Amino acid sequence: MKLCVIGTGYVGLVGAAIFSDWGNDVVGVDIDTEKIDRIKKGEMPIYEPGLSEIVLRNISQNRLTFTTSIADGIKDAEIVFICVGTPQSDTGAADLSAVWEVAKDIGKNMNGYKVIVTKSTVPVGTNEKVKMIIRENLPGPQIEFDVASNPEFLREGSSVEDMAAPDRTVVGSDSEKAHAVMRRLYEHLNTPIVECDLRSAEMIKYASNGFLAAKISFINEIAQICERAGADVTVVARGMGLDKRVGSAFLNAGIGYGGSCFPKDVAALYKTSTDQDYDFKLLRSVMEVNVAQRENFMNKVLRHFGKNLAGRTFAILGLAFKGNTDDIRDSVSIEIVKKLRGLGAKLRVYDPEAMYNAKQALGAVNVEYCLDKYETMQGADALFVLTEWKEFATVELDKVKTLLKSPVIFDGRNLLDRAKVEEMGFTYFAVGKRTNGMVKIDTRNLYQTVLLNTNGSTGQH
Ligand SMILES: NC(=O)c1ccc[n+]([C@@H]2O[C@H](COP(=O)([O-])OP(=O)(O)OC[C@H]3O[C@@H](n4cnc5c(N)ncnc54)[C@H](O)[C@@H]3O)[C@@H](O)[C@H]2O)c1
Repeated sequence: MKLCVIGTGYVGLVGAAIFSDWGNDVVGVDIDTEKIDRIKKGEMPIYEPGLSEIVLRNISQNRLTFTTSIADGIKDAEIVFICVGTPQSDTGAADLSAVWEVAKDIGKNMNGYKVIVTKSTVPVGTNEKVKMIIRENLPGPQIEFDVASNPEFLREGSSVEDMAAPDRTVVGSDSEKAHAVMRRLYEHLNTPIVECDLRSAEMIKYASNGFLAAKISFINEIAQICERAGADVTVVARGMGLDKRVGSAFLNAGIGYGGSCFPKDVAALYKTSTDQDYDFKLLRSVMEVNVAQRENFMNKVLRHFGKNLAGRTFAILGLAFKGNTDDIRDSVSIEIVKKLRGLGAKLRVYDPEAMYNAKQALGAVNVEYCLDKYETMQGADALFVLTEWKEFATVELDKVKTLLKSPVIFDGRNLLDRAKVEEMGFTYFAVGKRTNGMVKIDTRNLYQTVLLNTNGSTGQH
């Protein structure tokens, strides 16, 4: 098939690469000239494991080309994917200006039947407006087209695998003809295709992200209780996750979710609910808990070191919003670095892939960019683990101990093995775990809890 993908970021570039790898002819379009020039030269503008090989292979086989012109990109395409960004606006709603702009350009340059597919995450009703804008800008009234919603569920860090073999594919459209075209693209996948109307497809994406964010906030709340009651949230999450009804994914307690999707999508879903005169109470709490989680983490630091951090130097492992990516958009790690710096601390930072992006966000004041994880620790007052890169989990603790000025670790991702860390004599602050026996258990309250369970059990588990 002949396809065009507009917006060559994390979703669009990976999408264009995988679609071409399936044997389709794909043109990638982006407004960012520098990005397109880099891709054409074979340089990846983002870090995604496995992406470079696929892009280079398909460019060399002439199935994948890039341009900055929407007119050239869509000329021969049967399907045009819109993959531009939809960041959060001041009101919490998704900023759809790039989608509208692209829809207008597509409309002006239509030259025959095409299916226009929105892959960007967009609120309910957006695709209907996309259809209207395209229709208003068509060069001639006789040109036919359909719109479809095909939300993307890939995870940064494993987006190549996710795009090539999704758990499911969602396609929403009010046109059977469009469904038939989309079926031809996806029918070779061995996973279900959920075919539905436009609005349901748009909601599936937000409902999925809202639910995953709720799982994270749920386990973070459990972590709070674990810390107070002397339980270990990692053990609790494992015990919960083995139940198939619960599932182990997104049950890692930590400093909260960040990134380019969850914060903005949860906010946008909440805005959709209030726009519909409904207060999505659970989602409101999900957001509040997420903010509180980083504050709780900072409070541990302040309780240990005091509120004035002038004269302190901290080693920071991890700047990306999660492991396996260079993306720092809404990274909780970056926010914590800023807070520590704001209180007077100097930071020695390292991330395997996000150093360039972090430099743009943090600048040079009181931040030293180190070449590896051990260099950050030289003479530091404490080590902070803020992103779950595998290489941080395997840090050599005896080496860490010799490098740090004092043996203190703040593990915001529960990445290290508490027993080993404590055995080595570190003071270890994790999330949802006691710190070297510091938690006092209120046995009177525990007794009351036992009584409540005995008398008030509903028998449900
Ligand atoms: N990143 C993810 O993990 C992920 C996962 C699922 C869905 N999504 C959604 O997919 C969409 C894209 O996300 P992303 O992370 O790929 O964003 P991104 O910022 O990495 O990429 C967007 C691209 O669109 C380009 N662009 C903007 N305006 C344009 C225009 N008028 N014409 C042509 N190109 C234009 C930008 O230059 C940029 O390269 C968002 O709606 C996001 O919510 C993202």
